[in-house]
Amino acid sequence: MSEIRFVKADKLKDKPADMSKVKFGTVFTDYMFEMEYDEKNGWHDARITPYKDLAVSPANATLHYGQAVFEGMKAYRYNDGKQAAIFRPMTHLERMENSCKILDIPEFPLETVHEGLKKLIDIEKDWIPDGPGQSLYIRPVIFATDPYLGVSVSSMYTMLIILSPVAAYYANGFAPVKIMVEDKYVRAVRGGLGEAKTPANYAASLHAGMVAHEKGYDQTLWLDGVERKYIEEVGSMNILFKIDGKIVTPMLDGSILNGVTRRTVLAIAKEWGYETEERRISVDELKQYYESGKLEEVFGSGTAAVISPVSTLGYKGHDMTISGGKIGEFAQKMYDEIDGLHTGKVKDTYGFIEIVGEY
Ligand code: COI
Repeated sequence: MSEIRFVKADKLKDKPADMSKVKFGTVFTDYMFEMEYDEKNGWHDARITPYKDLAVSPANATLHYGQAVFEGMKAYRYNDGKQAAIFRPMTHLERMENSCKILDIPEFPLETVHEGLKKLIDIEKDWIPDGPGQSLYIRPVIFATDPYLGVSVSSMYTMLIILSPVAAYYANGFAPVKIMVEDKYVRAVRGGLGEAKTPANYAASLHAGMVAHEKGYDQTLWLDGVERKYIEEVGSMNILFKIDGKIVTPMLDGSILNGVTRRTVLAIAKEWGYETEERRISVDELKQYYESGKLEEVFGSGTAAVISPVSTLGYKGHDMTISGGKIGEFAQKMYDEIDGLHTGKVKDTYGFIEIVGEY
């Protein structure tokens, strides 16, 4: 593909005066990355252009049938604010390629998108907030654009990368959450879309999330859609347990998102000398570990929150209190380590960080 064009904005926006008050995903930067696909030209016209609303056909295939995939990653002020860095960009883009395969979206030119992403972050690096836990959230999305109501794989697509400065996920400090085991609704099933980062999985989670809130819980613990026994995810995150000293997480079987933070946690835990297990784990088995005192910690992992410790697990009307209702030691240590890797306070011996700009 030819080089990435740059279209300059006439006027730049004011940046938020107080980042700590900015709600997640509400403020967007001056520029975005754009690229289109059609059958004649393939992916073409990669460019960085001023952030703007889009015009779509009322018959747009994504609006009606949801053929779309997205990603979520973050850029940080790195090395005492001297550089701009992205955390595991290629891992995210490769996962997006995998989501595209699941949704029958044509493979995109990885190197062009990677270059475009680096260029975009370099141009927008002044938008990366520098307070503790703050970052520039990066949201790539690909969506079908056929103006056609027939149910079929689209012949045209748009790819965008938009950027949103975000505050620390926990406004009042790193806080544990209450989760409810969901035995009525399911998020995804094996053979379905669960492994793809696609809007349908998030739409499927909304109603159960409302129900959990009404019952006084923060999030839903998803069970498998076939036997309704095995633990899959929590809210929109992966879930991990510390059981009798080991780090255990549900194995990937097609219905669980292959989380980048999940992979990061497993890699660090192994490096620290912990035994890790990726396997099926039923909620009844978990309850037995709880009852025998072996369930030491429960936490979610995702790009948005990084680590989300769980204080309460509600199951069949009974609450299990995890880690004495406090933040577990391992979860706290893992959060601090990943947070340190993000900013350069912890040396990156894993190759997770990609420097994309200098201040
Ligand atoms: C994440 O934890 O990174 C998520 O998937 C949430 C995001 C969709 C806002």
